[in-house]
Amino acid sequence: MSTGITETLFNAQTMMDTCQETLIAFGYDALDQLSAHIMLKEYQTILLVMGGESVHRCGAFHAFLQSPLFGKLDLNMPRFENVPPEPDTDCVRRIVACLDTEKPDAVIAVGGGSVMDAAKAAYLSWQTGMDIDRLFGREAATSAFPGRTFRRILAVPTTAGTGSEVTCYANIIDAGTGVKKLIADPAIIPELAAVEPMFTVSAPQNLTRVTAFDALVHAVESLLNFRGCEAHPAVVQWALQATRMIVSALPKVLRVPEDQEERAELSAAATLAGMAIRFSPTSLPHLLSFSFCGKAPHGAAVAALLPHFWKFYLREEPVRKQTMLLSGVFPGSTPEEVIGSYEKWIESCGGTVHPGELTGTGTEWIDKLAEDAAQNPVKLESAPRKIRADECRTVFHDVLDHVWTK
Ligand SMILES: [Fe+2]
Repeated sequence: MSTGITETLFNAQTMMDTCQETLIAFGYDALDQLSAHIMLKEYQTILLVMGGESVHRCGAFHAFLQSPLFGKLDLNMPRFENVPPEPDTDCVRRIVACLDTEKPDAVIAVGGGSVMDAAKAAYLSWQTGMDIDRLFGREAATSAFPGRTFRRILAVPTTAGTGSEVTCYANIIDAGTGVKKLIADPAIIPELAAVEPMFTVSAPQNLTRVTAFDALVHAVESLLNFRGCEAHPAVVQWALQATRMIVSALPKVLRVPEDQEERAELSAAATLAGMAIRFSPTSLPHLLSFSFCGKAPHGAAVAALLPHFWKFYLREEPVRKQTMLLSGVFPGSTPEEVIGSYEKWIESCGGTVHPGELTGTGTEWIDKLAEDAAQNPVKLESAPRKIRADECRTVFHDVLDHVWTK
């Protein structure tokens, strides 16, 4: 870190240092730390998995190659480029074919959540020989190969939002059905995350906004998941810290995109929120957001869905208590007022809390949300207020009909 580190960032980094499964290298020397790690592990052939033009625009690739330590390494570095936003199973299979050809010692994913997710899924598919279709769900590979240790990717995030650099999740679209599916397996938690906030400075305003919304909703959903917080008490501090940082930094970054200090806060917050959902997962807002794929950015969808399911969860007393932990960030003397403050804040940042405005559809579309969500009973049953698959249609209409549009 630079000598100008703020107390907030210092606290955040102290929390990141406690991440046990991923080594987090944060700040201006993140790539040097990544290079040192590669040297230590004696990796020789490294497959770089990258997105499209944005990787070059943000300077990540250039910085990566120019990193002083990296220049001393004599590496073979084949590339798989142009991973699209919302990668599908065919894209993952193409990366697997590339892995088969190159047989690398390590994989580095440089990009946003889509790139990291595709690389995580492909690396596991290649090592297990399991087609991507068989990896969906909870711990498919870990269960199929008990006791086996898998190699995990090295992640260089270029957006501040997904937290994929520290999570056991990968979202991939089923090319056959067009449905977004989830892999949740500790075998894909990145080995190292090199988080350099400077890579996010060139992000367009809307990308900055929706990725920050995504990270914020990760933090809030993990906090509302009171069972997850009970099982892993550290989640509460990570989620609160991430929420505070995003609510403070995002409005400033939207005004002054090149503000490095505030960009650093957003990057740190996104990683902390990723740590939080690793142990205290998201539920209904994220589950329903899968159906918004292709219609609205993921972060915009979860931000719009959150307040309505948050109110639905309030019928559970522990959720009311967890909500009041956020009253310092979203002012309010009751949980309902805290949620009202959240809604005002989202709108003040240019977002919406009316999901129908994102899809351009009427409330009949809620039937599709229910149909899609019913296919994921695990996520329904793990929600702070549990619902059954056969209740989705009624509950979703009750929750969303009156707020679907303004
Ligand atoms: Fe998300």
